[in-house]
Amino acid sequence: MLFGVDYYPEHWPETRWEEDCRLMSAAGLSLVRILEFAWSRLEPEEGRYDFSWVERFLNLLEQHGLQFVLGTPSATPPKWLVDKDPSILPIDESGRTRGFGSRRHYCFSNSNYREHAARIAEELAKRFGNHHLLVAWQTDNEFGCHNTALSFTPEAHAGFIDWLKRKYQDIEALNEAWGSVFWSQEYRSFDEVILPSHTVARDPGASAPDSMVAQGHNPGLLLDFQRYSTDAIIAFHQAQVDAIRRHSDPPVTHNLMGDFPDIDYHRLGSHLDFVSWDNYPSFEWGRAPYNVVGFRHTLMRGLKRRPFWVMEQQSGPCGWRMLGDTPAPGEIGLWSLQAAAHGARTIVYFRWRACRTGTEQYWYGILDHDGIPRRRYREIADTVETAGTYEQLWEQTQFPEDVAVVHDYEHLWSHRFQPHNPGFSYTELLQRYYTALATWGVSPAVTSLEGALESARLVVLPAYSLVDSDTAARIERFVTAGGTVIVTYRSGIRDRNNAMLEEPIPGPFRRVAGLTVGEFDSLNFGRTTTVEGAFGQDRAAVWTDSLDLESAEAAAWYGSGPFAGEPAIAVNQFGDGTCVYVGCDISPEALSTLARGWIESAGVQLSPFVPQSGIEIVRRTDGRLSYYVLMNHTGRARLVESTRPVQSYTTQQEVRRIRLDPYGTTVVRES
Ligand code: GLA
Repeated sequence: MLFGVDYYPEHWPETRWEEDCRLMSAAGLSLVRILEFAWSRLEPEEGRYDFSWVERFLNLLEQHGLQFVLGTPSATPPKWLVDKDPSILPIDESGRTRGFGSRRHYCFSNSNYREHAARIAEELAKRFGNHHLLVAWQTDNEFGCHNTALSFTPEAHAGFIDWLKRKYQDIEALNEAWGSVFWSQEYRSFDEVILPSHTVARDPGASAPDSMVAQGHNPGLLLDFQRYSTDAIIAFHQAQVDAIRRHSDPPVTHNLMGDFPDIDYHRLGSHLDFVSWDNYPSFEWGRAPYNVVGFRHTLMRGLKRRPFWVMEQQSGPCGWRMLGDTPAPGEIGLWSLQAAAHGARTIVYFRWRACRTGTEQYWYGILDHDGIPRRRYREIADTVETAGTYEQLWEQTQFPEDVAVVHDYEHLWSHRFQPHNPGFSYTELLQRYYTALATWGVSPAVTSLEGALESARLVVLPAYSLVDSDTAARIERFVTAGGTVIVTYRSGIRDRNNAMLEEPIPGPFRRVAGLTVGEFDSLNFGRTTTVEGAFGQDRAAVWTDSLDLESAEAAAWYGSGPFAGEPAIAVNQFGDGTCVYVGCDISPEALSTLARGWIESAGVQLSPFVPQSGIEIVRRTDGRLSYYVLMNHTGRARLVESTRPVQSYTTQQEVRRIRLDPYGTTVVRES
């Protein structure tokens, strides 16, 4: 494990740098990420570079045994550049220019800006790309943050039209795919195609009525524009990678944002040498439950199915205008171990010291404004010091990957454009299934369909809406060969153009599911209905499908509402495997009971621990033994009981009742 810190030498007097480096080193940190917002100091005027101060800082790093990650500064184009070429600024859906004054004020499709960004990256690579202390590069900072993934500039429009020409070749093919005959939206040439910006229609119920998704646009146009926008971001990133690669070999990453929805991270991830992401469990807008943080780590690991970095790990109370909770004693250490347990091999804490000026005055890090090391500094130093205990474990074990939840950005976008029900969220649905499975200590993967089918025995396809016959055939082959697939409501309803299918629901999944959906009911305004199954009596919310069974057998029934007495969940034996169709949303408790049954019948090992809320269990394996990382995410000491004999990883003693301190962790192994 390596530990580091995000540092902004340009924010502090040079006379302080040495003391900061000394303190970093004394805490056991070995890496410093620098420069990702420093453009105005690196190139104060066009073509006049000043890297001398960076040299002086790197000399200090060397003296203190520290290495560095180099960020390219393209998230903050300097004022001279914006004044010289205001066309680089992004434009929002309503046609308003988003100006200078915060950050990310550029449009990914602007070719002038792409060249400027690649140029400064190349200058940095020429000067520092072969520095012996350089460990990795980070391009830009958090692509898409502050709602910047989509831009509505003339360049984005031209780029989109080119992209459509390449995809469809013929305008009639586009009209057909989008069904643009609806409301006379047919285009006679590609140059007529619009961007999904400001229109007449508004969805008054949408949480952001001015957003692109609330303006009644054609769903095919929306999906293609979202796809194009990911491609524009990848091209922007890749231009910098190419510039760097002309002079420098260390790996290049970008700091992603966990379950951020606006970019297809599977596609962007394939352009990164390794994945890194920014983990803030608790800040001014709320606190992510531990299972959601676990889900985000797992999603990030699933992009390449390889270990990853946390490039920004929260290390203090955070906010811009208001402050989130101060991490309780032990919590920063717990978040760090949680990251490692889920596959992080490097953790970089954000940030070294709270800045005195600028927007992020309240975004505290390891040190407060006064720069004096206190409790958080000591906690991080302790975390680093004790990290060696598990080094071998992280090195020598993998994730079982026999259970997987499929994550797909195109499905996410389609559901976001038209969520069916105000209570529906694709990401939350995935998190519910992830949590229900993770409770049983199986460390479910969260990955693409391809990744899931490669290694898992139990694959969950939540609201897998956009399908073609090829996907359905792959699922059928997987189940025929003995796999278990769980398909939920709103699966198999659309084609890849985001058009609704003409077939009965669940479309090409009908055969493997052994049923059709006769009727459905969106449960609006808090309406629920009872449902009964192996989990006892529960309440279905959000959505109900009533199932017409062919070869499938009912496993749960509606007890009330318009579908009373009809099947809600059904199981179909297909070849040597099983397909379960879940036609409604049920409570986390009921889902967890079902998940246990699916895990057992898929022949996947359940953990020996009795699940408890607040206790996270991550399983890793060396191919022979299972290792369980137990984490107490509560401020109270807890006892965890094992139903089978397990040994402590550190003492090798057999243990049955394991005491976890508040925010405490331990590792046990089972032969
Ligand atoms: C993100 C960014 C950081 C910082 C924090 C706090 O994670 O990457 O630069 O701005 O948010 O806002």
